[in-house]
Formats: sequence, C-alpha cells, structure tokens
Amino acid sequence: MPESFVIFMDYGGQIVINEKIQNVLNAQINKEFYSAYLYLAMSAYFDEIGLCGFSHWTKVQAQEEVDHGMILFDFIIERNGKVELSPISAPDVTLGTPLEIFERIYEHEKYVTSSINCVASMSDEECDLASRNFIDWYIAEQVEEERNVYEVILNLKMFGDDKSALYLLDKDLKSRVFKAHSYN
Ligand code: FEO
Repeated sequence: MPESFVIFMDYGGQIVINEKIQNVLNAQINKEFYSAYLYLAMSAYFDEIGLCGFSHWTKVQAQEEVDHGMILFDFIIERNGKVELSPISAPDVTLGTPLEIFERIYEHEKYVTSSINCVASMSDEECDLASRNFIDWYIAEQVEEERNVYEVILNLKMFGDDKSALYLLDKDLKSRVFKAHSYN
C-alpha cells in the first residue's frame, strides 16, 4: 500500500481527513470564533454610544461568525477528523469613530479572506478535493462580507459629520436579519 494512502487511514481502516488540512481547519475555527468576539466587543461599544443599529449589525455579524466556525466543526467531524479547540484571544479593539471601526472590520475581513485562501491552496497541494470543494463556500462568503463592510465605509465617508445621515444609516443597519447556514 503506498505510504500516502496509509496516512489517510485510521486504525479502524476508516478514511480520515488529511492531517495538515485538519490542522488549518481547526485554526480557522479559532479565527471564526475570534471574529465573533471582535464583533461582540464592537456591538457593546456601539450600544454604549447610542448607535443601536450599528450595535445590532455587528451582533448579527457575530452570530454569522459562530455559524462559520460551526460549519467547519461539522465538516471535520463529517470527515472522521478530530476537532481541536484552542483558546480564543480577547478581542483587540481600538474603539473610535464608526468609520474607524468599520475600517478596522474591513482589514480584519481581508485577513480572514487570506486565511481562507491559504486553506484552499493547501487543499489543492494536498489533493484533498473534498476540502477544496467545501472551502469554496467560504471564498464566496468572504467576497460578500468584504463588500457589505465596504458599502458601510462608503456611506460613512460620504456622510462625513452629518449626524442626520448617521441617524438614518443607523436605522438602516438595524434591519439586518441573521440567516443561519449549515454544512449538512
Ligand atoms: Fe467568517 Fe467574517 O469571516
């Protein structure tokens, strides 16, 4: 039996996930839950300064991040792999104006996109086509997430110091609805 085949089998002869891919998927779970923490910290801050719509939007985003983590969790289990949960760091939030916070969010989402892209490249390198196919959903999701954040940034830049416009945007962000996704 070729060596490369042996490493994909556990002692019961079951096909299991490639270990390198399992490790990056576990690391990605941590990044998604960290993202949820980050958005929750922002949500609390927005609530504190009276921007309830911004607070709601970031709280819904936190729910989405937990969802992203759980889909990875379910996928590892589905592939007979081992979920390994690591500590979640406290969110590093430098709070400021809504524009500064959304610029921070945009940078964070670009970082998550690069991390997802690495999982995709590694799946290609390891010829793990099931993982490669699975991660496509995240690639599309990141395009949407970056665009959503960028639209808020564009609005905030356009409105400048106009408090009435900020009030209207806050009302608009309050209408965001959480949509659950699932792997199965
Ligand atoms: Fe799950 Fe915002 O990336």
